[in-house]
Order: sequence, then C-alpha cells, then structure tokens
Amino acid sequence: MSAVVPISASSSQFSARSSSSVLPFSQFHGLSSSPTRLDSAASSTKYSLFHQVSRQLQTATGKGCRPVVAMAGTGKFFVGGNWKCNGTKDSIGKLIADLNSAKIEDDVDVVVAPPFVYVDQVKNSLTDRIDISAQNSWVSKGGAFTGEISAEQLKDVGCKWVILGHSERRHIIGEDDEFIGSKAVYALSQNLKVIACIGELLEEREAGKTFDICFGQLKAFADKVSSWADIVIAYEPVWAIGTGKVATPQQAQEVHAAVRDWLKKNVSADVASATRIIYGGSVNGSNCVELAKQEDIDGFLVGGASLKGPEFATIINSVTSKRVAA
Ligand code: PGA
Repeated sequence: MSAVVPISASSSQFSARSSSSVLPFSQFHGLSSSPTRLDSAASSTKYSLFHQVSRQLQTATGKGCRPVVAMAGTGKFFVGGNWKCNGTKDSIGKLIADLNSAKIEDDVDVVVAPPFVYVDQVKNSLTDRIDISAQNSWVSKGGAFTGEISAEQLKDVGCKWVILGHSERRHIIGEDDEFIGSKAVYALSQNLKVIACIGELLEEREAGKTFDICFGQLKAFADKVSSWADIVIAYEPVWAIGTGKVATPQQAQEVHAAVRDWLKKNVSADVASATRIIYGGSVNGSNCVELAKQEDIDGFLVGGASLKGPEFATIINSVTSKRVAA
C-alpha cells in the first residue's frame, strides 16, 4: 500500500534553521531530471561508478543505447538491512543461507544489522560480500554501563558499521540530538562507520516542519563530527517506518535533494556530492525500483523486508535501475 501523506506547504515552512539554508519551495519540484544537476554532476572531477558505466556502455555500443545516469551524488549505492529486535538462531541461519546464495550486483555496498546477540553467528556464517552493522553503540568507552555495548566491543566482534539516531531510539528510548551526535563522534573515533538517521514525525510533516526537523537533526551531527567520509545519512520519515506507508518517490527525492543542498551550504560541496543519502521507511521489493530512480536517493535502509533474503536481494539489485536506457 502506498500512502498519501501530504508534502508540506510553503517555502517558509521549509526553511532551514540557518538562513543560509533557506531554499525556495519551487526548487523542490521536478528535480528528478534536472539537466542542471546532471550537468554539474558530470562536470565534477569525481565521477561516480554510474558515470563510468554510462561512458563504457556508450563506448561499447557506439550508438542508440544511451544510458541516463540518475545519480546526483558520487557515492556508491548503499543498501542496509536493519533486522531490529527480530530473529532466532534458526531464522537467522535461514536468512543467512538465503543471502549467501543470492546474486548481488557488484556496484552496491551491502550491510546487515542483526541484534547484538547474533552478531557472532552472522559474522561466522555470512558471506564477506556483506558487512555487519550494529544497531546502536554506547556514547563513550565501555565500563560500568549496564546493558550497553561499546564501539570497541563492536569492532572486536567484526562490526564495521553502526546505526545511530534511528527513530525508534529517538522516540521510544528518548535519545536526543546531542547524545546521538556524541555517539557518532565516539563510534567514528573507534573506526566504526555510521549510518546517521534523520526523519520527521507525521505531525511534524503535517505542520510543515519536515525540513526544520531534518536539518536540525543533521546539524546535531554536523556540529560534532569532523569528517563525513565514514557517514551515510538515512532519511527515514517516521510515519513511513514499519507502517507500509512508503513515501512517494517525489516526497523522498524532495527531502534528499534538500539534505544534499544543506550539506553543500553548511559543510562543503565535496561532502554534499560524496555522502550517500539513503531512504528508509517501508521499502520493499515492489517499490524500490521507482525510489532508486530518484537522482538523490543513493540507496536504502530496510527494516521488515530485510528479514526476507530474496526480497532484500531484490532491493539491493534495484541499483540497476540507476542505469536507464534512454
Ligand atoms: P521498515 O523499517 O523498512 O520496516 O519500514 C525501516 C527502518 O526502520 O530502518
């Protein structure tokens, strides 16, 4: 089921906190095939893999087949599976077997985030083609923090990534922007890469505060981290998570483009272009292709559908829809 949740309204409602980030609303319509954006991406010195593929295909065919590159950023497509608090040794064993036998495209980074207690099982049986992420980490060095897991421990058991700022931790557990930013800094200092989640509640979207909320959450990361090289941003509208109400491709693209623009204005053009901005919220095997075609969507963070191996593989392989024959 796809949802019709209203996109916010006026330009002023979309204003960033910083006046330098104010963007006219008109900029957020019809971006998906904007020649300006494609031209500026193509003139960048850092070509994405898709640009290279495009050129190779053009050279190979020498005629008619002219692939359109639908990617504003230069980062590799990225798909993460967030297993949340699901699974047993048996069900996870079956999921791993399905993932190990799945055919996965080359030009995509793939990560799964099992519950902590199964990380070792996953590490010992999952193909090296897929990296492991934790779903959370403690804000500083380990010690007397009952129930917590430190970044050092996650590294020790083979995690390369950690998801931070997920809406379930923000809104159910009560983690705030400042705490999440500090967690990101500590995880990065321990050489864990970070999937930094942002996203608005339904009432915030309906009140026209989508950009304010997302930019505020982004700023909390930006204020603390010194490098974005090991960060992937996950835009996950809270109303779309686990609800079956996926954002429309246009709704997602609009926020992704705004997030990239915020990075450009508040961090740097290089960071804006290189940082992957992935979408999360009821992504499945049926809606992933249309979402992946949006030029500022660099991949997905997937919850429910990542628990089904073949469907997760379909989502991973939606990277192919970034190459569209013209
Ligand atoms: P969902 O979860 O795909 O089940 O909506 C996404 C997420 O929470 O990362």
